[in-house]
Amino acid sequence: MSQTWSIRVAERRDVPELLAIEVEQFPEPWTRAMLLDEITNTETRRYTVAIEEKRIIGYLGVMYVLDELHVNTIGTLPGRESQGVATSLMDEAWGVAKARGIVRATLEVAVTNTRAQALYFRFGFSPVGVRKNYYERTKEDALVLWADVGPGG
Ligand SMILES: CC(C)(COP(=O)(O)OP(=O)(O)OC[C@H]1O[C@@H](n2cnc3c(N)ncnc32)[C@H](O)[C@@H]1OP(=O)(O)O)[C@@H](O)C(=O)NCCC(=O)NCCS
Repeated sequence: MSQTWSIRVAERRDVPELLAIEVEQFPEPWTRAMLLDEITNTETRRYTVAIEEKRIIGYLGVMYVLDELHVNTIGTLPGRESQGVATSLMDEAWGVAKARGIVRATLEVAVTNTRAQALYFRFGFSPVGVRKNYYERTKEDALVLWADVGPGG
């Protein structure tokens, strides 16, 4: 089936919709101020949204550190999961990252978040370590994942 949404760079006006997804999808949702800060810091961050009929159905935030990319956040609107929204956002970000000369990517993911892990593994990520008590509220450990992004990655 053809994709029914498009992807564009996030803007300030997107913050309320992003907040709504954050609150539903994350045990420790970011605040309005944090999201705004991330979106507007375009020197080192790139936030993208998937738009369907003027509504945000998913978003991805990455941070660039030299030739590395850090996946800061990714979320799909509840009810729109398992339709490839997150995959399409990652695909788009990977294309941009490669063009920018990024060679590696890293992220942290909760050890119990097997759904997100499955997505990341499909993008070539593999675990390299554990950060104990990474998440403040849940005290959960995080897996640290790395992937090659460059040619062949
Ligand atoms: C993790 C998360 C971002 C995944 O988003 P998603 O949009 O459901 O992801 P996708 O649809 O791209 O991929 C998920 C599944 O859909 C399947 N899929 C992909 N494209 C598809 C398509 N066109 N049609 C049907 N299914 C498809 C994939 O095979 C995948 O299956 P699997 O999980 O059984 O392996 C989402 O569940 C979420 O927001 N979780 C809460 C926030 C979170 O945990 N974020 C990560 C923090 S580190």
